[in-house]
Amino acid sequence: MSQKIIALVTGDGSAPEMMRVSCKIAIAAARKDGIEIVFEETPMGWNAYPKYGDTFPEQSFRRATELGVLFWGGVGDPKLDKTIGAEHPEMMPEARALLPLRSSWKLLLNFRPLTLYKYLAHLAKVRPETIPETGVRQVWVRFLLEDSYFGNIDLIQSIPQDVRERLGIKLKADVTGEEEMITELAYYKKETVEKYFRAIFNYAKLAGLPVISIDKANIMPRYVFWRKICARIGKDEFPDVKLSHQLVDSANALLFTPTAFNGVIACGNEHGDILSDGAAGAWSLGMMCSSSVNPDTRSAIFESGAGTAADIAGKNEANPLGRILTAAMMLRHIGAPKGAQAIEDAVQKTLQKGYRTADLAASSEKITFAVIGTQEMGEKVLSLL
Ligand code: IPM
Ligand code: MG
Repeated sequence: MSQKIIALVTGDGSAPEMMRVSCKIAIAAARKDGIEIVFEETPMGWNAYPKYGDTFPEQSFRRATELGVLFWGGVGDPKLDKTIGAEHPEMMPEARALLPLRSSWKLLLNFRPLTLYKYLAHLAKVRPETIPETGVRQVWVRFLLEDSYFGNIDLIQSIPQDVRERLGIKLKADVTGEEEMITELAYYKKETVEKYFRAIFNYAKLAGLPVISIDKANIMPRYVFWRKICARIGKDEFPDVKLSHQLVDSANALLFTPTAFNGVIACGNEHGDILSDGAAGAWSLGMMCSSSVNPDTRSAIFESGAGTAADIAGKNEANPLGRILTAAMMLRHIGAPKGAQAIEDAVQKTLQKGYRTADLAASSEKITFAVIGTQEMGEKVLSLL
């Protein structure tokens, strides 16, 4: 057995409940590949605040960076956002912890794969007849750097003070609501966009899938740039990979037509945030898994795209399957493909047997199902590994 130490943020809200079972499953599954996972807690989020006076403690950041692989439960809690967060807006954990991690680790690729099987069609909000017998595989790959998310943060230092003031170029925590004007800088660098599309096309080529690139090239200069780079790399370097372009608004209208996105879907940081939630939500699976990866160093955060379900914290109700499937992505990344496959198969079997957390059972189902809690769902998956 080789040992692999992985940083762990158990997180806020219902995240610790979901992470408890997900970590157990990850540890058990990785043994199939001869890997002994040891999780080391690196606290971040509101849960870290009472002890460290910070939602992003320096020592947690340093240790997680050393380890290079982080299993992320999710941070944020609307109640605490309104209380402690109102007094200390700089401590809001998404902006304080998650974004700096993505940026300092240069996590360019955010994989959010969705697989819809025909036998689960009744769980989706889309019409079952729109899902073919062979199912649908949508690999959303969000560009996770630059864009409007990091424009002001990354560029503010290079802008003279008088220009900043005139245009209202500010950091989020400094916005008062009294400004005459506010400006967000949204940028893409040629080097980063080229690296992104090379990774996208490579992935699509290996997977035998087409590339669907989303943009707003009819209006926005940065998306004219995006489309031109995408088309050039596709034509010159990957002529065998099928490529199509899709405007973001019409892409949004197609989220309820799952086959429109059978492939690898390339989208900008902000577009990808919105569309990937929409795609997961249209399918009503509460099962979105996600990994954010630096393609050069292979540093990565395994962060389920779903929220922290803070409203039901402590009730053992939240659906842990997104985190469990995220653990499978993590196992593949650390060289434990058998364990990864075992987790994915066990999740399928658990669902096939009719087990549901409350969120999944809410949709109309013809088969009989059993509604179970977070921990029980984890145990079912574990027992089927
Ligand atoms: C996501 C989340 C984050 C984002 C938040 C928590 C900052 O919504 O990962 O999609 O907007 O990127
Ligand atoms: Mg989001």
